[in-house]
Amino acid sequence: MNTNTVPSAPEPQSLFLRACLGLDVAQTPVWLMRQAGRYLPEYREVRRQAGDFLSLCKNPELAAKVTLQPIERFGLDAAILFSDILVVPEAMGMKLQFLEGEGPHFPEPLTRQADLDRLTLPDPEVQLGYVMAAIREIRRILPSGVPLIGFSGSPWTLATYMIEGGSSKKFTLIKTALYNDPGFLEGLLERLVTAVVHYLNAQIDHGVQAVQIFDTWGGILGPDEYRRFSLEPMARIIAGLNRNRPDGSRIPVILFSKGCGGYLETIASSGCDVVGLDWTTPLGQARARLGPNIALQGNLDPAILYANPQRIRSEVRRVLESLGRQNGHIFNLGHGMEPNIDPLKVPQLISAVREESRRIRTP
Ligand code: CP3
Repeated sequence: MNTNTVPSAPEPQSLFLRACLGLDVAQTPVWLMRQAGRYLPEYREVRRQAGDFLSLCKNPELAAKVTLQPIERFGLDAAILFSDILVVPEAMGMKLQFLEGEGPHFPEPLTRQADLDRLTLPDPEVQLGYVMAAIREIRRILPSGVPLIGFSGSPWTLATYMIEGGSSKKFTLIKTALYNDPGFLEGLLERLVTAVVHYLNAQIDHGVQAVQIFDTWGGILGPDEYRRFSLEPMARIIAGLNRNRPDGSRIPVILFSKGCGGYLETIASSGCDVVGLDWTTPLGQARARLGPNIALQGNLDPAILYANPQRIRSEVRRVLESLGRQNGHIFNLGHGMEPNIDPLKVPQLISAVREESRRIRTP
């Protein structure tokens, strides 16, 4: 592992943390991106109680409640903090709205240097204090054997929303900035690196046991631009994290750059412990390129969950068999759960991962 783990560090017990650190496990751990969300009727009920999505994120008791819903229903191997990557730009001073059925919207997107000068560096204990309160509440009610994953967006992915004003198909505005005014973009990325380092370190202080950086839009960049505008800021974040606790235990960092199978070696050079993969890169191929000292997370096509149980199982087996009995794999989807997935598919998926991975590991 590319770690500077203290030699006497206690070995984690949970399957998830063990797999992140490349330690041996009896079966492959599994969690799912967007495991708490609209496909669960109990989530929709709590969101209704909260009023809207952002109010749910800002209510620590309700955010903790929805974080635990998929754990209680399915017994997944890790929980992920219920929040959103866009609470950071909001905490930096940008107005943020989630329009029903339309996704996130920044009514005053960033266009020039003067806009950057108005952004503030948030104190995570103040402007994002509700996230810290949610983390404490989750740790209080989460079974102690289930690790909690914290997260943030990558600076590049956050910048796409802050400059485009919301979700985008063509990314015209941020690409124009990238090629015409790179100084403006780099000024923004610089501010985001600082904000995210503070934010993730505060999450670690309040009790998350691993962190994932979501770089959803890294894949729209060519190799040189990916390195400069996406990877480099993430590597600076990783270098700034307090990953070793005083007791010697380590906080693994998962880096998920979607659509970046071509850039795996660059991603692995970031200092992360785990590389998240979407379904376009076979795990066996990723392992051959990166070697055994970095863990892999992924990578079932979420659309497989529309298929029948036999097909789900055979696709799970295909993913698992591409790594055989090697350590250092966390099973996940290659992107988030879709809102129209039948929740009954999830236990089929989890049983398949557990049974098939045990079978593969049996000599
Ligand atoms: O269970 C979990 O994974 C934890 C919660 C989580 C959410 N968003 C909740 C959410 C996490 C980790 C995120 C990350 C996030 N948010 C990303 C990166 C991961 C990815 O999916 O690529 C991005 C790009 C965002 C920004 C964002 N938030 C968008 C584009 C949208 C709308 C998309 C959609 O499907 O409607 C959101 C809203 C959002 N974030 C929802 C949830 C459960 C749906 C909101 C609702 O309940 O109406």
